[in-house]
Amino acid sequence: MKNKIQIILACVLVVAVVLACGQFSSQSASPASPSAVTAVIVPEQSVESGAEAGSSGLGDSLYPGFGNGGYDVASYALDITVDDISTSRLTAMTTIEAVATQDLLGFNLDFVGFEISSLTVNDEPADFSRKGQELTITPLKPLLKDQSFTVVIQYQGSPEKMQSLSMPVQAGWVTVNGGSFVLSEPDGSASFYPVNDHPLDKAKYTFRVTVPNPLEVAANGVLIETIDNGDTSTFVFEVRDPMASYLATINIDEFDIETMTSENGVPIRNYYSSELPKEVREPFARQGEMIDYFSEIYGQYPFEVYGSMVMNAVFESALENQTLSIYGIDAIDFEDVAETEFIVAHELSHQWFGDSISVADWGDIWLNEGFATYSEGLWIEHLDGREALDDWVKSQYADVVENSYPAPGNPSADDLFNGGVYVWGGLTLHALRLEVGDETFFEILPAYFERYKNGNATTADFIAVAEEVSGKDLTEFFDNWLYGETIPPIPALGLGN
Ligand code: TRP
Ligand code: ZN
Repeated sequence: MKNKIQIILACVLVVAVVLACGQFSSQSASPASPSAVTAVIVPEQSVESGAEAGSSGLGDSLYPGFGNGGYDVASYALDITVDDISTSRLTAMTTIEAVATQDLLGFNLDFVGFEISSLTVNDEPADFSRKGQELTITPLKPLLKDQSFTVVIQYQGSPEKMQSLSMPVQAGWVTVNGGSFVLSEPDGSASFYPVNDHPLDKAKYTFRVTVPNPLEVAANGVLIETIDNGDTSTFVFEVRDPMASYLATINIDEFDIETMTSENGVPIRNYYSSELPKEVREPFARQGEMIDYFSEIYGQYPFEVYGSMVMNAVFESALENQTLSIYGIDAIDFEDVAETEFIVAHELSHQWFGDSISVADWGDIWLNEGFATYSEGLWIEHLDGREALDDWVKSQYADVVENSYPAPGNPSADDLFNGGVYVWGGLTLHALRLEVGDETFFEILPAYFERYKNGNATTADFIAVAEEVSGKDLTEFFDNWLYGETIPPIPALGLGN
């Protein structure tokens, strides 16, 4: 049985190779330059003598440069026209509504590539400079703590190829023959919009994307309008629940769209690249059942809509974009529908763990991947019973031992999605279940979800809920399971010494 990790790790190589043959040539980043449209005015030191520049990072333990401090984004509106589909040449405007969390002389966004033709803060041209991923903006007037402000950035060009820091793959907007898609976890978003790129700053999103007919757009959230402009069409999507920046996705292709509703009423729309055979739909047929089952054990499905999208592109992987998970065509095993269903369950469960509850720090990634991996086991148990789960646990345990996966609690920055955070991380939850008993375990999960949904959590937050609900001191348990040299035994299943 080919498991998720092998799929993910294989993807690393395949994506690297496939993307190396990608169509667009990389441009070098625009040199740092003052805006052509802006007179450079040094703000006079007036009332806000305490005002400082916002920091150029959010203090992430693995990626201190991701995100920026000093403000909190409420919403992004991405207005993008695709001028040339073969190069993804874009004419774009991003509007950011934010609130200053301190007095600010200036602030940063994360943004890579493109030519910026206009940048305003509160409708006034603002000075800016660029260095690497950092776009540093100095408004004419300093911003006051708690002040709302609007940033409008107009830019054009083709997204640059961006290398993820977390693994050797291209991150962000990927151009393929006849279309494009987005894979941004954890650091690709800055490849197509200016952003406070850390899951701590969740925000609402509107996408207005214009593409040449007959191409279509699939993005997160609810499709609220499609406008036919003659030669082009504009697709308007809205995300009304807070979303982490790396989950924002815009995908362009011709699609077959399939709609259905879960028994409990969650609307599902699946997007299949229209060249794909009809059988591609099979592994997705039970998503409604899965949504209702996970809603029962974790808490109500957190968003307005769900669905999956399969691209006719090879990236041997899948990613849980909020309300719209994406799959590479080679993540679909046409021979083995049941096998692919595990991946479908995995990505769906991320809507609770990863998307609604986002990590507060990338070092806590096992809170996403361990939970999604164990969700595969729970789906197996739901279908085939406890013995089937036990068999699955045994094979997962063997996988950790054979491949000497590291403990899930301390991933390294250049290997964030290692086997330990998935497989050992998933087994940590099974071990917790054995430690506290089924009844308590199935109270811990919804209690954790209820407390942190639509927000962020740390490993310490999860442990606190587990201790609170179980009434047990679990310090040693979690120390061993999250940070131990070797995976602890599971005596109940005869695993380990
Ligand atoms: N989170 C994905 C999963 O469900 C794995 C992943 C992380 C990924 N970063 C990615 C997949 C980038 C594709 C591209 O396991
Ligand atoms: Zn996952």
